[in-house]
Amino acid sequence: MFLSRSVIRSVDVTLIVYVFMFNMILGGGFATGAIDLGGLEVCQVSSFNKIWATNEGGPGNLGATFYEPSSMPDGFFVLGHYSQCNNKPLFGWVLGAKHGASDPSSLAIPTSYSLVWTSESQKIKQDNNGYIWLPVAPDGYKAVGYVVTPSPEKPSMERIRCVRSDYTEIAEFDRWIWGLKNEIDPNGLNVYGSRPKDRGVQAMGVSTGSFMVQNTGGSADVSLPYCLKNTKSTLLAKPMPNLSQINALIDAYSPIIYFHPDEKYLPSTVNWYFQNGALLYQKGLENSPSPIEPDGSNLPQGGSDDGSYWLDLPIDNSAKERVKKGDLDSANAYFHVKPMFGATFTDIAVWVFYPFNGPARAKLEFLTISLGKIGEHVGDWEHLTLRVSNFDGSLKSVYFSEHSGGTLLDASQVEFEKGNKPVAYASLNGHAFYSKPGLVLQGNGRNGIRNDTAKGKAVMDTGVRAVVVYVDHLTVVEPPWLNYSRKWGPKLSYDIAKEIEKVKKVLPGRLKEVFERIVNGVPNEVLGEEGPSGPKMKNNWSGDEKY
Ligand SMILES: *[C@@H]1O[C@H](CO)[C@@H](O)[C@H](O)[C@H]1NC(C)=O
Ligand SMILES: *[C@@H]1O[C@H](CO)[C@@H](O)[C@H](O)[C@H]1NC(C)=O
Ligand SMILES: *[C@@H]1O[C@H](CO)[C@@H](O)[C@H](O)[C@H]1NC(C)=O
Ligand SMILES: *[C@@H]1O[C@H](CO)[C@@H](O)[C@H](O)[C@H]1NC(C)=O
Repeated sequence: MFLSRSVIRSVDVTLIVYVFMFNMILGGGFATGAIDLGGLEVCQVSSFNKIWATNEGGPGNLGATFYEPSSMPDGFFVLGHYSQCNNKPLFGWVLGAKHGASDPSSLAIPTSYSLVWTSESQKIKQDNNGYIWLPVAPDGYKAVGYVVTPSPEKPSMERIRCVRSDYTEIAEFDRWIWGLKNEIDPNGLNVYGSRPKDRGVQAMGVSTGSFMVQNTGGSADVSLPYCLKNTKSTLLAKPMPNLSQINALIDAYSPIIYFHPDEKYLPSTVNWYFQNGALLYQKGLENSPSPIEPDGSNLPQGGSDDGSYWLDLPIDNSAKERVKKGDLDSANAYFHVKPMFGATFTDIAVWVFYPFNGPARAKLEFLTISLGKIGEHVGDWEHLTLRVSNFDGSLKSVYFSEHSGGTLLDASQVEFEKGNKPVAYASLNGHAFYSKPGLVLQGNGRNGIRNDTAKGKAVMDTGVRAVVVYVDHLTVVEPPWLNYSRKWGPKLSYDIAKEIEKVKKVLPGRLKEVFERIVNGVPNEVLGEEGPSGPKMKNNWSGDEKY
């Protein structure tokens, strides 16, 4: 297995991507080109011919382009065309399919098409007219994609295949791709990405990569609520990477994290935190906290997050201040590898631990103010997720977590260093991850809670000293701290009202009210009232990311 640079060409975009070139033998395990869904074999195609484009509507009012796969590997058929907004370089894929040896009737040609929408009568900037067709599937089969043409003639039945119902699952809208206006129009045409409705490590729905259409103003129901399904039932039957392939993926794609130049609260290993004086508290015995074994082996295991235990910084003030700063030189990231989309993808969650989360900061007109203790908490777990194709091992997208949600970006929209390593920026004090440096303001207009990122000197290559702590489809030794289900920090240890008063005192009169409004709007996760939980206790441990 080796890394190579490959060039994807389409009609008007040339894009360089790095992909893993594994042995491209069709039909095997991880990164062997095709995946057997149990009677239906699929491949991932990412070279396209452009069919129709418009230069307005959709995100940023930049329009969208519709494509068909430019070629299919021998024996594979098109399941649907592809669409993408024009606000980013072409970087997509769709699945092609062929019936497995054991099931010659898993695919069928449509019996007809119905016209879903045409741009003919639309006064929009476009290169020619576009027509979107929904295949009419024979009994017992379902269409999982649309055909787009530049002319009003019905497409040939051979253009696409429908899939027998037992290989399909319910899909839902993913991100918005296009609409006639520059915002989603609930009474008109909208084009979205498509994803399985049920997602997570156990879910069997497979994304087709294709798009979905909603035409609320149109006469017929044209939405296409189906994607594919992996009918093989065990994790082991899925083409997940083995341990050496996981290590190769981490070597290649482990993110580089930049901290803000003013950041005081850097990451550490969990072991460093325990060895440097972190304490385990038990409810009712607050006066006699215990030191923690370096590997966390004396932490309570299992059970529920019932508030009966929590961790805290050392009591001694100088030790406390030292531990808060973490230890970047010895820090490492913790990796969790899990199957996604019926194991057509591998998600690699990259977890980073910080002993301390600094106070929130607000922007009030031209002033930046620290919110006293508001936003501070002990023990902070943050993550990024790499989404890797199990067809060829290429990195398709990166998820940047910002607590209340996050951002999923195509690999083509991400900054890279050292070849293929995505760059992430951790926000000052709060450590939310962003793909770009700069200010993100949570509020309206000129005032709000500010999250600042910048390329400081402090940087962490998460591939260095990488530790794989959990792999859903393989047995790896789990560190005992991973099974600790209680909080990693105490509940709020300060009085919010008092903190607000303290800050207000030093503000000029007219800003006092603005300030109060901002603080009242501060989301709970910033206040951190409940104390932070560990990676395994978060829904996203076994689910899809929220974006
Ligand atoms: C992982 O799979 C590759 C490709 O099949 C194989 O060469 C390698 O020996 C495997 N490694 C392990 C640890 O199983
Ligand atoms: C973690 O705790 C659960 C109980 O909540 C238990 O079933 C599981 O075996 C534990 N895992 C390890 C590695 O100790
Ligand atoms: C800003 O950072 C805080 C704390 O890290 C986070 O909870 C919040 O979601 C972030 N806000 C935005 C808009 O990203
Ligand atoms: C992850 O899960 C936690 C706990 O369930 C939830 O509070 C948080 O919003 C989730 N984060 C994202 C980015 O989905």
